[in-house]
Amino acid sequence: MSVTNFSAGADLSGHGFPPTKVTMPALAEMKRQGKPISALTAYDYATARLVDEAGIDLILVGDSLAMVVLGHDNTLAVTVEEMLHHTRAVRRAVRRALVVADMPFGSYHGGVEAAVANATRFVKEAGAEAVKIEGPRAELVRALANAEIPVIGHLGLTPQSVHRMGGFRVQGRNADAVRRLRADALDLERAGAGAIVLEGIPREAAAAITAELRIPTIGIGAGPDCDGQSLVFHDLVNLTFAPQAKFVRRYGDAAALFHSAIERYREDVEHRAFPSDRESYHLPAESREKREMDFEDTDAVVNRDALQDFGEPGRS
Ligand code: KIV
Repeated sequence: MSVTNFSAGADLSGHGFPPTKVTMPALAEMKRQGKPISALTAYDYATARLVDEAGIDLILVGDSLAMVVLGHDNTLAVTVEEMLHHTRAVRRAVRRALVVADMPFGSYHGGVEAAVANATRFVKEAGAEAVKIEGPRAELVRALANAEIPVIGHLGLTPQSVHRMGGFRVQGRNADAVRRLRADALDLERAGAGAIVLEGIPREAAAAITAELRIPTIGIGAGPDCDGQSLVFHDLVNLTFAPQAKFVRRYGDAAALFHSAIERYREDVEHRAFPSDRESYHLPAESREKREMDFEDTDAVVNRDALQDFGEPGRS
C-alpha cells in the first residue's frame, strides 16, 4: 500500500501559491520572450509527479516507453491502449506541466479520419492536452487542429521510421536533407502545429529551423539553439541499461541508488533485520497486559486516516 493522493490545495510550485498551468499558447509566448522550454518524458504517476513538481514545462508521454519501460528494441510495438494507460497515469499526477501524448506507430498512418479518432481518445479518455506525431504530415496536422486537438510535430530522427532509416541515425547530414527539413517544418507550422520536436539533427540545421519558425522547437540531440530541450527520463537518471547517446547528459544515477536500496532490503530480510518491532502493529496496551488476543482494535484499514490513529509505521 502507498499513500499517493494529493493533499487538498497542495502547492506544487514551492512558492506558496498554486502553479500557473502551462498551455500550448504559453509555449509560443515563451518562445516570443526568449524563455527556454524544459521538456522531459514521464510514463507513470510517481515519476510524472516528480517531473511536474520540479517545474518541467512539458511532459511527454513518449512512445519511447516501449523501450525504456516495456523493454522492446524499438518503439514500434507499443499500442494505443498501452499509450492511453500510461497517459492516464501521468495525467493523474500532473498539475502544472503541459501533458503531451505520443501517437504510437500505426495509429495515424492510415486515413486521416482514423488518425483523428485515435487522437481524440488521447484527449477524451486520457486527458492529454496535445498529441505528438512523427514525420512531415501537414494534412493530418491540419485535420487535428480543425478537430481542436493541439498537435506537436516531430522531425529529423523519427524513431518510428527506424526501418526506413536503417537504424537510429542522425538525419539532415547534407544540404539537401537540411533544405527538406526546413520545408517540412514550415509546412507543419502553416498547417497548425503548436511546436516541433527536432531530434537527432546537426546543431546548425536545428538553429536555422528554430530561427525561421514562429512556433517553438524542442530539441533532443539537436544542439543548444532550439527554443526548448527534451530528454528521456530514464536517460537522465541512468535507468536505460544501454550505452549513452552523445546528446544525453546524466543528472543522477537511479540505477546505483535502486541497486543499493534493494540489496540492503534483501540483506535485512535475510538477516531478519526487517521489519523491526517499531515497524510492526501491536494490540492495544490493555489487551497485551491481559494477554487477550482481542483483534477488534487492530483491523482498522491502513489508509491515511488510520496512519494518523496508529502513527506512521516506525514512528509510533
Ligand atoms: O518518445 C519519445 O520519448 C520522444 C522524444 C524522444 C521526443 O518522442
